[in-house]
Amino acid sequence: MSNIIIMGSQWGDEGKGKVVDLLGGEVGLVVRFQGGNNAGHTVVVGGEQFILHLMPSGILHPRARCCIGNGVVLDPEVFCREADTLEAKGVAAGPGRIVISKKTHVIMPYHKVIDAAREEYKSKGEKIGTTGRGIGPCYEDKMARVGIRAGDFTNPELLKAKIEAALVEKNALFTGLYGRDPLSAEDVFAWIEPYAARLAPYLGDVSSEMQRAMENEENILFEGAQGTHLDIDHGTYPYVTSSNCVAGNASAGAGIKPGAFDRIIAIVKAYTTRVGAGPFPTELSDAAGEHLQSVGSEFGATTGRKRRCGWLDICVLRESARLNGPTEIALTKLDVLTGVGEIKICTAYEYNGERIDYPPQEQNGMAYVTPVYETMPGWTEDITQCTSWVSLPGEAKDYVKRIERLTGVPVSIVSVGPDRAQTLVRK
Ligand code: GDP
Ligand code: IMO
Ligand code: MG
Repeated sequence: MSNIIIMGSQWGDEGKGKVVDLLGGEVGLVVRFQGGNNAGHTVVVGGEQFILHLMPSGILHPRARCCIGNGVVLDPEVFCREADTLEAKGVAAGPGRIVISKKTHVIMPYHKVIDAAREEYKSKGEKIGTTGRGIGPCYEDKMARVGIRAGDFTNPELLKAKIEAALVEKNALFTGLYGRDPLSAEDVFAWIEPYAARLAPYLGDVSSEMQRAMENEENILFEGAQGTHLDIDHGTYPYVTSSNCVAGNASAGAGIKPGAFDRIIAIVKAYTTRVGAGPFPTELSDAAGEHLQSVGSEFGATTGRKRRCGWLDICVLRESARLNGPTEIALTKLDVLTGVGEIKICTAYEYNGERIDYPPQEQNGMAYVTPVYETMPGWTEDITQCTSWVSLPGEAKDYVKRIERLTGVPVSIVSVGPDRAQTLVRK
């Protein structure tokens, strides 16, 4: 039996969806444990593309059951839309297949209004560039102990009372600070009612579900969203998301003991990207950056924004390895480096006159580091059909081996294209 955590090592969009799908055929359960529909996980099977925001990326494997854990924030409208889209494509997405934890917090219309209003209110240099999906404000309510949980869907009286109580504070903010119209509790309740009815059959106890799966000797896959450097504690605060994205949160965010995990797969993109604001030491604004952006089709899967691109940053990966303890790396998008010319790897930073191996801990310290690079020869051969280690060009193999050496973590999977089939698994 093998329970696996898949997590992002950089600033998200490393290709987690592809790797979850790749392993999804071997597991009984795929569980999301944090984040919400700020995530955009792309899966390509036989040329058909699916972008999943809330549904676990194992959904395309008919035998895998899926869970939305307590640590997720769930937008009911997005969940229903995604379920409908999947069903229309012949993928079962009903209550028989998906369990939503009763403890999962619900993204309400006022969370989205706050997210947008707050970003709008901030001056240019202060904006985080959130996805605008209401993620942060929903987590805020959870921590303030006034949140609405999916379990409340079956208790209309409680739901109504919580909405009324929430709006006292939110409306004061909307009218007093943000110059917006207040929301009516009746309207918000009328909005949630049909979703509550539709989602009630999905509600369950995810922790017990996993317990049963383990008793039946089924494997469980934990699908992380975002990435370690977007983690609310360990990321480039305040330019982060509002949840813990590190592997440790798979335990708390799904409801399973910390000893239950056998493998932790760190997803590493062969270069670095970032969407939204915040420091990015190896960011490129030259032809190489343009190559990564265009050849890698680096556009956000959720917001469509152009992703910022740069060289691989080992300081970022070292910190991820320290925080997550990966047993292995799945290296994605290696094919995008084909033809880029010489490849640079950032191996350290200069910071305040010193050489450092890890990101500085001070707020925004990352904005003041200078990357120290080493250079490796590139390759020009098309590698998108390479499904064995031996078929890779020598320079590509050297690049992979250098990453292993610098991070101290073995690379077990190399991805050379978006399709499920464009993958090389090393023994
Ligand atoms: P996630 O959020 O970590 O699941 O990643 P995204 O889906 O947001 O972004 C990864 C993008 O790269 C998607 O468009 C994938 O289809 C694509 N992709 C994944 N692996 C590879 C790869 O090895 N090569 C190429 N060219 N594209 C890939
Ligand atoms: P996946 O799972 C990349 C970024 C946003 C913004 C910051 C805060 O697809 O890798 P939020 O809406 O979460 O409050 O935005 O976090 N962000 C992501 N960037 N991939 C993601 O998810 C992201 N989810 C959030 O762009 O900078
Ligand atoms: Mg993504």
